[in-house]
Order: sequence, then C-alpha cells, then structure tokens
Amino acid sequence: MNPMPEFSRIAPDVKLGEGVQIYGFVNLYGCSIGDGSRIGTFVEIQRGAVIGKRCKVSSHTFICEGVTIEDECFIGHHVVFINDRYPAAVNADGALQTAADWKCIPTRVCRRAAIGSGAVILCGVTIGEGAVVGAGAVVTKDVPPHTVVAGNPARVLKKKE
Ligand SMILES: CC(C)(COP(=O)(O)OP(=O)(O)OC[C@H]1O[C@@H](n2cnc3c(N)ncnc32)[C@H](O)[C@@H]1OP(=O)(O)O)[C@@H](O)C(=O)NCCC(=O)NCCS
Repeated sequence: MNPMPEFSRIAPDVKLGEGVQIYGFVNLYGCSIGDGSRIGTFVEIQRGAVIGKRCKVSSHTFICEGVTIEDECFIGHHVVFINDRYPAAVNADGALQTAADWKCIPTRVCRRAAIGSGAVILCGVTIGEGAVVGAGAVVTKDVPPHTVVAGNPARVLKKKE
C-alpha cells in the first residue's frame, strides 16, 4: 500500500489487499479492497462494500453499502451508487430513521466492467461482465455482459467489440 496519505480517513476495520494504492482525502470504512486496486481522491466507500482486485476507482466516486465490484473493473470519476429506492430522513411519526427502518438493496458490477464518469447506478442492478456504461448514464436496469449502454435512462447502444 502507499504510505498512508495524510488527510485520509481509513478506518481500522477496512480490509486492504496487497499493493492497494490510496490517494488523499478518501473516506473508507468497513469495506474491503482487493489486491492491486487503486482508489482516487475524494472517494467514499461505505461499510460492507466490496471492491475486487486490480480495480481502478476514480476520484469523487461514492460506493455505498450493498455494492460489490468484481475484479478488474474501472469506475470513472464522480460515479454514484444507490442502495435505497425510497429514501427518507424520518419515519411517519417524525422520528429519525435508523438502520432498522430501511432495506439495503444490493448492486453488482461484474468483472472487467467499466463505468463512465458521472454515471448514477440505481440499486438492485447487475452490470454484466465487460459491459461499458457511458458517461452521465442513469442505469435503472441490468446491463447485459459485453454491452455498451448510455443515456438517461440507460439504453443499449451496441455490443462491445
Ligand atoms: C458510451 C461510450 C463508450 C460510447 O463511445 P462510442 O462507441 O465511441 O460511441 P460514439 O461516440 O460513436 O456515439 C454513438 C452514439 O451514442 C451517443 N453517445 C455516446 N456517448 C454517450 C453518452 N455518454 N451518453 C449519451 N449518449 C452518448 C452519441 O451521441 C452517438 O449518438 P448518435 O448516434 O445519435 O450520433 C462513450 O461515449 C462514453 O461515454 N465513454 C465513457 C468515458 C468516460 O467516462 N471515461 C471516464 C474516464 S476519463
């Protein structure tokens, strides 16, 4: 691993593989990051998220609980994952919501997939092996393997060559 960058918060419960490179100003807690992966500046990775080996996670990306990213994936800049379809700050009685009041919906990014900058990945989807998500896409449904999708909502552009 890089010398621990100053101004980063890497909680003691983070599981880091061999040779992980982490840049400054990240916020990582309760997640695991596989061997050789690179994590850019201003990335947050939440508890329970799993990043595989030799992935690249570019700056400003948010990876929440419930997200699994398999090996050798590329995640662009400012990619946002989602794990709560109907988010709310409080319950009907006005009490602040707790972990017991909402359901985390998982998302999977399969091996060697690439997600373009600024994409938003809704919860409960699987992005297939080797698929490409265009910059700025809003992914609402599963993306088939080796397929390029783009737009809002993301639609298939073509099969990947
Ligand atoms: C999706 C992508 C892979 C397609 O690249 P391509 O195969 O070269 O596609 P083209 O540029 O030939 O575009 C094909 C069509 O899709 C449209 N298109 C391309 N990218 C798009 C995007 N991100 N969102 C919406 N439409 C897009 C084009 O306007 C074009 O439409 P038209 O046929 O009506 O003219 C690419 O545009 C992209 O978004 N890559 C992600 C790059 C990125 O975020 N990198 C991060 C690190 S810098």
